[in-house]
Amino acid sequence: MAKEPVRVLVTGAAGQIGYALVPMIARGVMLGPDQPVILHMLDIPPAAEALNGVKMELVDAAFPLLKGVVATTDVVEACTGVSVAIMVGGFPRKEGMERKDVMTKNVSIYKSQASALEKHAAANCKVVVVANPANTNALILKEYAPSIPEKNITCLTRLDHNRALGQIAERLKVQVSEVKNAIIWGNHSSTQYPDVNHATVNTPSGEKPVRELIKDDAWLNGEFIATVQQRGAAIIKARKLSSALSAASGACDHIRDWVLGTPEGTWVSMGVYSDGSYNVPAGLIYSFPVTCCNGEWTIVKGLPIDEFSRKKMDATAEELTEEKALAYSCLS
Ligand SMILES: NC(=O)c1ccc[n+]([C@@H]2O[C@H](COP(=O)([O-])OP(=O)(O)OC[C@H]3O[C@@H](n4cnc5c(N)ncnc54)[C@H](O)[C@@H]3O)[C@@H](O)[C@H]2O)c1
Repeated sequence: MAKEPVRVLVTGAAGQIGYALVPMIARGVMLGPDQPVILHMLDIPPAAEALNGVKMELVDAAFPLLKGVVATTDVVEACTGVSVAIMVGGFPRKEGMERKDVMTKNVSIYKSQASALEKHAAANCKVVVVANPANTNALILKEYAPSIPEKNITCLTRLDHNRALGQIAERLKVQVSEVKNAIIWGNHSSTQYPDVNHATVNTPSGEKPVRELIKDDAWLNGEFIATVQQRGAAIIKARKLSSALSAASGACDHIRDWVLGTPEGTWVSMGVYSDGSYNVPAGLIYSFPVTCCNGEWTIVKGLPIDEFSRKKMDATAEELTEEKALAYSCLS
């Protein structure tokens, strides 16, 4: 018997990530090739015409899994009945704007969208925030949607995770599918800590640690980390636009693994509500290594952390603590 369609919300759907993301969802990349979907696309009134253009293209693409499209500037209509929410819409930092001004705009967007999701989304709706500052936007969403279980509110660091796998694969000249278990700790910002201490590569003679294969700790502790941290800026320099297809693909990976599960022996990175694991302050949305099973993520516990890692994990936590304070000051 055919499955019931799942309603998936994409906010900021008229933007560049939205344009890359909605066809992926409609093709089954996010929820599986046998899962019909109804897309709910939200944007703001100045983007309404562009949003309608995206809807027209979705109709023209004749996706067999796409059972309906809601394109709207009404947040209540957008949130009604959705089981998955991909929050891409936000206010970008423009030249000359202070950090606090951008934060004020985004805090107010995420506060009001939290209320709409809480009142109108499906009870067990899974939320991933993509829009920056992603971790702190997710935290605000969590605070203002108290009836949504806190485990259901996450932010996207899977793009950074995938970037780390990609850099290792390029350096070792192996397929990226053979590399696993990198970790992104902390904030989706340049203080994030891409950690390969537990990452492995599948080789013809078995699974080998990345450090053993690369044999260049100076590169792994220096250039590699900086490249992953600064990759977003490098894409902007090259494309004159920020990363969109890789962000959309990362969002699909994030939800797919969360809903359908991570493969045995593999973890991924997700920004989730900290429970104090690894001495990360509780009450932040912080990126951890997680495994997923039956629609639930679990932080991978007990990984040994060396002094180098500890410092980097603390630095990114500190930045998130500051962002949280700034966000709260914008609310008052
Ligand atoms: N977490 C990640 O890995 C990651 C990666 C890349 C980009 N990003 C972030 O994702 C966001 C979107 O990037 P983009 O390149 O698509 O930007 P974009 O400017 O092309 O699109 C953003 C869209 O959001 C809409 N929007 C603004 N306010 C809204 C609101 N209140 N409700 C609904 N929609 C609203 C805009 O009208 C626009 O269409 C940015 O904040 C960007 O920094 C995050």
